[in-house]
Amino acid sequence: MTYTDKNRKFKRYTVTTALPYANGPIHIGHMAGVYVPADIYCRYLRLQGEDIFFIGGSDEHGVPVTIRAKKEGCTPQDVVDRYHSIIKKSFEEFGMTFDVYSRTTSATHEKTASEFFLKLYNEGKFIEQTTKQYYDEQEQTFLADRYITGTCPICGNEHAYGDQCEKCGSSLNATDLINPKSALSGNAPVLKETKHWFLPLNDYEAFLKEWILENHKEWKVNVYGQCKSWLDNGLQPRAVTRDLDWGIKVPVKGADGKVLYVWFDAPIGYISNTIEKVGDDWRKWWQDKETKLVHFIGKDNIVFHCIVFPAMLKAHGDFILPENVPANEFLNLEGDKISTSRSWAVWLNEYLEDFPNKQDVLRYVLCANAPETKDNDFTWKDFQTRNNSELVAILGNFVNRTIVLTHKYFEGKVPQTFELNETDKSAMEEIKAYPEKIGTLIENYKFRDALFELMNLARLGNKYLTENEPWKTIKTDEKRTSAVLNISLQICANLAILAEPFLPFSSQKLQKMLNLAKHSWTQAGSISLLPQGSAINTPELLFERIEDEAIQKQTDKLEATKKQNLLNNAEVKPQKENISFEDFEKMDIRIGKVLQAEKVAKTKKLLKLTVDTGIDQRTIVSGIAEWYKPEDIIGRRVAVLVNLAPKELKGIESRGMILMAENALGELSFVGCDKDFNAGSIVR
Ligand code: 2FM
Ligand code: ZN
Repeated sequence: MTYTDKNRKFKRYTVTTALPYANGPIHIGHMAGVYVPADIYCRYLRLQGEDIFFIGGSDEHGVPVTIRAKKEGCTPQDVVDRYHSIIKKSFEEFGMTFDVYSRTTSATHEKTASEFFLKLYNEGKFIEQTTKQYYDEQEQTFLADRYITGTCPICGNEHAYGDQCEKCGSSLNATDLINPKSALSGNAPVLKETKHWFLPLNDYEAFLKEWILENHKEWKVNVYGQCKSWLDNGLQPRAVTRDLDWGIKVPVKGADGKVLYVWFDAPIGYISNTIEKVGDDWRKWWQDKETKLVHFIGKDNIVFHCIVFPAMLKAHGDFILPENVPANEFLNLEGDKISTSRSWAVWLNEYLEDFPNKQDVLRYVLCANAPETKDNDFTWKDFQTRNNSELVAILGNFVNRTIVLTHKYFEGKVPQTFELNETDKSAMEEIKAYPEKIGTLIENYKFRDALFELMNLARLGNKYLTENEPWKTIKTDEKRTSAVLNISLQICANLAILAEPFLPFSSQKLQKMLNLAKHSWTQAGSISLLPQGSAINTPELLFERIEDEAIQKQTDKLEATKKQNLLNNAEVKPQKENISFEDFEKMDIRIGKVLQAEKVAKTKKLLKLTVDTGIDQRTIVSGIAEWYKPEDIIGRRVAVLVNLAPKELKGIESRGMILMAENALGELSFVGCDKDFNAGSIVR
């Protein structure tokens, strides 16, 4: 029994998760937005005894893949092979319970997507249009929007892409760009005619308006709102083919060099993956009106899943439409937008390596802080706090106290309840309400609130234990102690069942500790889950504290990325005006050797150096104290401008200047001499 579909009971569920582009590993933004909620939903439905099919897979076509291949000097196939296996493995380790995880380069998908296209083509559901697209004459290829850069007409950013300006966030058409340039050759592209097939979305506008705006008012506000705005603005025909050599070839005559647009083939991937796994049985998951279809996605995919894909399905005619599309907003990382291209992310595969056996901690934090209604921020500090003050201090602590006391007073056996008093009865009433409370929230895609309620049950347990003080009553009233620990153990058993969708690894561990038999969701809520007298295993900690060092390591990693990004994007200063050779020759630059170094008192930046210039031993004051420690530079060979007019700095006469290279962050590095040359050697 599920709790919300009281008026519409479905026989089974098809649940899809956005197919991630196989052009990089999966990161916490994907996890929080799509995969953690979807896995919670599916685990919950299975515990409810529902028949479900849970679909994942890699999206392996599209321009992002070809861009990555170009950057890395390999083929698109190499790129997707690598990332598909990284993503698949990290999903497995993370405990995703997909029924299938396949890929859009599979033969089944090529066949399914081609047939889908052909059916629509043969039935005249597309319109053919010749339009002008940018073409790179040198490379002899049409250019995908991402391959064109230029100046954003809105904010003036000179590095905007043909589909979007990342500075001001505006979506653009390639033809909007001022001074467009091909990213392949660097040349200005020319406009050239090309024929494409378009799905006339405008023909589906009335149907979509009724289906979404009238019949799905229950959709999340962010999803409904985005759909409404698309529909209010009026829909236009959308090209479903592209000029590209990576993708599924357009299966009709006269379409050489053209492939299906990635957003046409990717959602069909959900269907292909089902076919790949269950063969002919796939139809019941996609074509039976008694199947409830739910798409888990991030907000950038809303238009494709609520407007374009449903229009495709409608055009085809044989398919059911999604009942819900609970899209999430975005998760930021330490205040900045997560970005694969800027490497600003916490990658799932790296997390799993850095925090072994801590899948549930990440699941917990990403769910507790999920961007369900607005963008949210992930910080490592919050990750640590939620682990230490919530998982360890509330849930882990309650379970541990209960099991330790059971071993201490009752030889590790579930003690008897005897008579229940009023406190017990009221606790019992509260416990009874949790399965439905949490279940209803999950069914309404309110995973954060559902998790909060789960923790409330642990809070209830802690409060119950603390107020009933079995460690005191044991001295005077063993029966009371027995009842209190029985109920506490029953709360642990309830937690073990109800935590399964959210914290599957810890739930398993707890079930083992309690020797709890497999239970369905609806069996929770009872205080007779553990039979009296049954054995409890020795306690193991469910969660352990995460110390500052582990967090520091992660924030250092991010700092290093930030620095690298600044360096990668730093603009090179323009060249200065030419000078004559005579001008250059005026400078007397020598190799010097540092003999002594000390900090200049009351300054942060200055070191007082004694340098052997070959000519003499002299004092030079240099602003390098932030980058070099005095003891590390003794004996170092450096370049010195020796004929710079002396200058007094902090009361010290400095005679000359040590030449330093400076990067975009203002960091300094010696300009040296990599052979063992004498001090006094000339630099020219
Ligand atoms: O946004 C993305 O990462 C896309 N690869 C999602 C595709 S979802 C589906 F249509 F396959
Ligand atoms: Zn802009």
